Amino acid sequence: MTNLMEKKIGVLLSGRGSNFEALADSVAAGRIPDAEISIVISNREDAPGLLRATERRIPARMIPSKGVEREAYDRLVVAALNEARVDLVCLAGFMRLLSPYFVAAFRGRILNIHPSLLPAFPGLEAQRQALDYGVKFSGCTVHFVNENLDAGPIVAQAIVPVKPGDTEETLAARILCEEHRIYTEAVRLVLSGKFRIEGRRVLPTAEEHSEERLAGRAKRG
Ligand code: GRF
Repeated sequence: MTNLMEKKIGVLLSGRGSNFEALADSVAAGRIPDAEISIVISNREDAPGLLRATERRIPARMIPSKGVEREAYDRLVVAALNEARVDLVCLAGFMRLLSPYFVAAFRGRILNIHPSLLPAFPGLEAQRQALDYGVKFSGCTVHFVNENLDAGPIVAQAIVPVKPGDTEETLAARILCEEHRIYTEAVRLVLSGKFRIEGRRVLPTAEEHSEERLAGRAKRG
């Protein structure tokens, strides 16, 4: 029997899918309560994340994007998300810009994870950009998606140090651990609805804030 209170998450990915798996683990463990991942969609047939979804018995669909015009493609994806009754769309390594049509269809209900402290280093190869720039700290950001690239209001961020011997790979791996942690936190907050947006600021409600502090205290023992 389906639980009507359960919020449905749709995940879009193009590759490995470790963020999808982190979200799936968090849903299964109750760290994201009253939720299910109702569909995983990939634009690439060879995305390992699709296979991972199937292994977890989560409905998975491949909707190929090659040669399809951007909005026409997005109409197909939006239709699939609506069919799966998705409340919140989570981009998890989905290597495509969303059209204004898509953003309007799920306004305020699309999250993305990006491997830098936005607004620094938007776009591709964020870890490479951070190394080339010489920053001492980078990190990751979960943000709402709007019409501009990596630009919507920020829900969660984590700081990650850049070490002297870092390569793109070692830095990316250190950042990825934090991505998995904050994506769960951000999805939990957004699905709880216990926040408001003022300008660009995403502000947890007082209730959420004190729950968080209590949870933090409990974790620290
Ligand atoms: C992550 O670094 C994410 O921040 C970026 O794409 C990568 C996806 O990794 N948007 P995975 O497929 O979730 O493992």
